[in-house]
Amino acid sequence: MKVIVAKDYAEQSRLAADLVEKIVRDDPECCLGLATGSSPVGMYQELARRCREEGLDFSRVQSVNLDEYIGLAPEHDQSYRYFMDSNLFDHINIDKKNTYVAKGIGDVEANLAEFRAVLAGKDVAVQVLGVGPDGHIGFNEPGEQLYCSAHQELLDESTIDANARFFATRDEVPRSAVTMGVGDIMRAKRLLTIISGSNKAEAARLLLMSDVVTGQCPVTLVKLHPDSTVVITRELADMIGYKA
Ligand code: F6R
Repeated sequence: MKVIVAKDYAEQSRLAADLVEKIVRDDPECCLGLATGSSPVGMYQELARRCREEGLDFSRVQSVNLDEYIGLAPEHDQSYRYFMDSNLFDHINIDKKNTYVAKGIGDVEANLAEFRAVLAGKDVAVQVLGVGPDGHIGFNEPGEQLYCSAHQELLDESTIDANARFFATRDEVPRSAVTMGVGDIMRAKRLLTIISGSNKAEAARLLLMSDVVTGQCPVTLVKLHPDSTVVITRELADMIGYKA
């Protein structure tokens, strides 16, 4: 696993954007696996700037997202479709027809069948990952058993707490989501994990300071991937005593 320590969030975002940019320039028809949440926002802003100012071309790029809340329509301002449009797709020259975020409303089984069929047809060049305070990736919550394929997941209380900051009240946070499974994530050609913030210290410690791989902290699985990059801020690295 390659670990890059960035001096701050801005540098972390630029370094993550460098990796995605290289993939897009090497293969303008690649498929990007994308994440929502705070972690990749700076990287998305940087990719949008490079598209606008440096000719980084997304016109033939495809994308598929990790997850979507169950119960939120695409127009809901906290849905992950809305997040992707407003944080990235509306600011780059991607064809939205080539972007896929699983459906959060309607029949869950039918939505999952569609999500699995989409994933089966894609070779994801890089899967971007943020990390939950409980170590989740996508919405694969900690547990004795993880699931390989796209599935419905009940969100942990700690995830609901963490994501309540985006909603008017905690009660409004959806209790479940559809998510890629860990097998879907591991099938990507490369993994790019972006991690910062003191609330991720326990997950970061298990990821970087131990040899353990455990379903109780799903991000530890990225250790098994043959082309896995973690970008961590200096602040968090120092907090857990990680030395590059
Ligand atoms: C988002 C996702 C989640 C987040 C994680 C971290 O699509 O799958 O795993 O990456 O909850 O969220 P932030 O970045 O907001 O701390």
